[in-house]
Amino acid sequence: VLQGVVAVDGPSGTGKSTTARGLAMRLGARYLDTGAMYRAATLAVMHSGVPLDATRTDADGHDDAVSVAVHADLAMSTDPAEPRVRLGGEDVGAEIRGADVTRNVSAISALTEVRRHLVDEQRRIIAAALDHGSGIVVEGRDIGTVVAPDADLKIYLVASDTVRAGRRSAEDTSAGRATDATATGTDLARRDRLDSSRAASPLRAADDAVEVDTSTLDIDGVLDRLEELAAERG
Ligand code: C5P
Repeated sequence: VLQGVVAVDGPSGTGKSTTARGLAMRLGARYLDTGAMYRAATLAVMHSGVPLDATRTDADGHDDAVSVAVHADLAMSTDPAEPRVRLGGEDVGAEIRGADVTRNVSAISALTEVRRHLVDEQRRIIAAALDHGSGIVVEGRDIGTVVAPDADLKIYLVASDTVRAGRRSAEDTSAGRATDATATGTDLARRDRLDSSRAASPLRAADDAVEVDTSTLDIDGVLDRLEELAAERG
């Protein structure tokens, strides 16, 4: 049973969610998907009707995207057997993974004040798990670098572009969403570029992260490798 923090970072399509959640199950730990928090904050802005690029309150006092995102009523449950994301009490787990949110999330996650707020929330959730004597596996883009720089183990997942696009399409198909391999590849490349080049906490591996290439490993292969690494650190 893990009692510390494992950070799992990397670009989309490397198997982060499946891996982080599976590792939490194996280690008897809690699980936090920080991408889901950025997605739910993005959905809150989309629901509000405030334009995504309205980053300042206008002269008439209309709300801006930052204040809507920061005041969104988000609740995360960290049970790896049943992770849930609620927005205003409503389960938005399916909606936040749809194409509309995916298209807009990089714009909202690049806003410094939104990041500051969600990073605080993430640290609070991590501290609560540790207070209860549980470990926690946290996945995202900046966990090892910003959210939990003192994590006991930092994993940085990578995979080839072809494998990543294939995985994302398979995910969409199994969730009943329309999929198009070329569009998926283009969207991954676009998000990588936006996430890696933004000024606020860009996607990058922490200096002390262990890089794991998941291109040729199946999920059990990846989990065996991570469990080994966790045991070495534990
Ligand atoms: O991991 P997922 O694809 O759900 O993340 C959605 C988006 O949220 C990413 O493309 C990125 O813009 C943002 N994100 C982030 N920092 C994190 C997790 C996600 O900026 N820690």
